[in-house]
Amino acid sequence: MKVIPTALVLYKCTEFYHPEDEKGILWCDPGIGINWPVKNPHLSDGQLGRELMNQGFRWKHHLLGFSHKELDITRHSRVESIVKTSRPDLIINAAAFTRVDEAETEVDLAFRVNRDGPEILAKTCSYYDIPLIQISTDYVFDGVKNAEYVETDPVNPINVYGKSKSEGEQVVRTHLKQHIILRTSWLYGAYGNNFVKTMLRLAREKQSISVVADQHGCPTSAADLAEAVFTIAGLLKKGFWGTYHYCGKGITNWFCFAEAIFKAVRESGEKLSPQVRPVSSDSYPTKARRPVYSALNCERIRARFGISTKPWQESLKIVVKRILSCHFFDDLMK
Ligand SMILES: NC(=O)c1ccc[n+]([C@@H]2O[C@H](COP(=O)([O-])OP(=O)(O)OC[C@H]3O[C@@H](n4cnc5c(N)ncnc54)[C@H](OP(=O)(O)O)[C@@H]3O)[C@@H](O)[C@H]2O)c1
Repeated sequence: MKVIPTALVLYKCTEFYHPEDEKGILWCDPGIGINWPVKNPHLSDGQLGRELMNQGFRWKHHLLGFSHKELDITRHSRVESIVKTSRPDLIINAAAFTRVDEAETEVDLAFRVNRDGPEILAKTCSYYDIPLIQISTDYVFDGVKNAEYVETDPVNPINVYGKSKSEGEQVVRTHLKQHIILRTSWLYGAYGNNFVKTMLRLAREKQSISVVADQHGCPTSAADLAEAVFTIAGLLKKGFWGTYHYCGKGITNWFCFAEAIFKAVRESGEKLSPQVRPVSSDSYPTKARRPVYSALNCERIRARFGISTKPWQESLKIVVKRILSCHFFDDLMK
């Protein structure tokens, strides 16, 4: 292997594929002369999926991650064949149709991915006696409680995405005893599309950004959520099946979240200071209605699994730093 003085080689040669490094050098490039340890890298594409794949290595789990292209969870035969051949100890479903506004018009697709997919997974898990961790959302609630939602509060989704996820929860409960339904909220991270990256992109294009200030919730770092998932995975033997909430600690609104993003950017030494203006949801109409208050109470997951939540501002600083320090910032912004 020859490396010129200016070369940047980012690939980590462990036994797991690191999607974060895939742009460093070409995967499996025979010219580099490395004995590539993994023959067929499996990637998982979503925000949470990628964090799980990154962290699994640290938790010493052998993970098989699948991108949408590699595994469509709505295809029963494909799910069945992968489970039959790989016989996993646990399945974590991080796949979902998450485009909340688009779901209003792509109703069939949203229900296929968010309800029928989990049903197929749950039935397959039941047949092979495998536990399932199904990720769900604060948007199963209508937001009128005006206090933190606990797991036993009745669901009443007000948009198609929330309805499809709520039905996804229900089919998992119906078909599989060994399940964990983990609801989270306002997810963001270094990968995929999310509010933090939208704000960073807008700040590069505009001097002033309007952000709604009358919807309240709890921002959650995908990396923190992945950690919670692995903690639960390590404690499944306790048999604490059921529904749990996990989100960042503290309640905010999208406007304050945006302000905190730019504060974290400035603290990282970057100059990005757009004017952020608070607006009401009425002045920013969207296809899907959103709950005005969807904060989740996370006491149950703390009591059963010892998982404490982290202040959302602290996690935000870590994620912003991670995004800004990435050599492939522009790629991450896509
Ligand atoms: N994002 C949030 O703010 C938020 C908030 C609360 C809860 N959650 C929940 O948290 C979980 C993870 O969300 P996320 O933000 O990581 O989502 P994400 O970034 O949108 O990733 C979802 C992944 O699922 C894939 N997918 C879609 N349809 C699929 C199918 N039929 N088969 C297999 N894969 C499929 C998507 O691929 P394509 O992109 O190719 O379609 C994408 O890679 C989801 O259950 C979500 O409902 C998210």
